[in-house]
Amino acid sequence: MNPPDNRIAVCPGTFDPITNGHLDVIRRGSAMFDKLIVGVVNLPWRKGETMFSAEQRCQFIRNATRELSNVEVEPFSTLLVDFARDRGAMAIIKGLRAISDFEYELEMNQLNRRQAPEIESVYLMASAKYSFLRSSGVKELATFGGEIDELVPDEVAKALKERLSR
Ligand code: PNS
Repeated sequence: MNPPDNRIAVCPGTFDPITNGHLDVIRRGSAMFDKLIVGVVNLPWRKGETMFSAEQRCQFIRNATRELSNVEVEPFSTLLVDFARDRGAMAIIKGLRAISDFEYELEMNQLNRRQAPEIESVYLMASAKYSFLRSSGVKELATFGGEIDELVPDEVAKALKERLSR
């Protein structure tokens, strides 16, 4: 176990797939810490099957964050706080969009804090243009042929279109 290092943070999520809103939070979080580890949830039973495998989801994020030299991306299949502890992180960074996110995040915060009081959660308010952007909405738009090019990285838009045209 590594002691918490105040230069390291974890930014967790399912990222199925990564959106430009997630990238905004990752970019801003990476400017606040020396190292930002993007943790990609790899628990297939948790929210039902994901559209993309954990390895694909990680690869999309790696490709989209190439210019951010202090960002690392890895899958995890443990409790979030155990992952953060294991990596020596002292903070968990999350984005908050609308008020609807607040209740869920408050609950997660209480759970996580109970398990690991030494790890602080930091919430970044979504930039206005991404306030209502979520992966499930992008998938729904893509399913019905909606315009998604402005919402996700190019590689992800292409992969979604390919996947859904099958
Ligand atoms: O909304 P997301 O992207 O699926 O969120 C995933 C995550 C890990 C950020 C959220 O579920 C959380 O904060 N979980 C804390 C409880 C935990 O550790 N669960 C096991 C891993 S999902």
